[in-house]
Amino acid sequence: MVLIAASILSADFLNLGREIDKITEAGADRIHIDVMDGHFVPNLTMGPLIVEAVRKKTKIHLDVHLMINNADSYLDTYIKAGANSLTIHAENSLHLERSIKYIKNHGVCAGIALNPATSEHVLDYILDEVDQILVMSVNPGFAQQQFLPSALKKIAAIKTMLLQSTNNKCIIAVDGGINDQSIRACAHAGAQLFVAGSYIFGAADYKKAIERLIEIIEK
Ligand code: DX5
Ligand code: ZN
Repeated sequence: MVLIAASILSADFLNLGREIDKITEAGADRIHIDVMDGHFVPNLTMGPLIVEAVRKKTKIHLDVHLMINNADSYLDTYIKAGANSLTIHAENSLHLERSIKYIKNHGVCAGIALNPATSEHVLDYILDEVDQILVMSVNPGFAQQQFLPSALKKIAAIKTMLLQSTNNKCIIAVDGGINDQSIRACAHAGAQLFVAGSYIFGAADYKKAIERLIEIIEK
């Protein structure tokens, strides 16, 4: 299974409605929405109003990535706004197990993100509960950063952990610097969901950019 999530952080915000239509027609499997609060990461981006507005515009899976402090207190807000999956960072959830269960109990896919310097072992006691694991291959905060190869080792380690667990449905996702140069190694390491922002939205033809990524993985 190969899933492509287009990160709208690199979309044209003055024409967001048109961008959502274009990316839906281009065949993206998901729209990835990067929520940043200027505290957990040094950037301020979108909030629940954007998630709600995008929800009204498309039926596509909305993959909401929370890069905010005190994420545990905002789960309801983003569930109500229409997220299909909600990913919180292991580094800033005080009650990760409770939050993951809370998200799942509301019928939303529950994800845990790991910053580049965070060990996969933070997942040891929660692996059986989680629907997706988002390996950050850049330090979160901005689009267009360079892919960090250390993510490959982490993806492979998580893949091994999952094979040894009872969780056979969990998806490994990778986010940051995904393009035609980096995607193949991520797929080989075990990732199935690829978040790409600038590579897709920076292309003249979004459909071709998505097809190119899939072709590189499959050939
Ligand atoms: C980074 C965000 C990413 C970002 C990816 O903090 O979580 O989703 O939009 O952008 P690119 O694909 O340009 O690295
Ligand atoms: Zn993201």
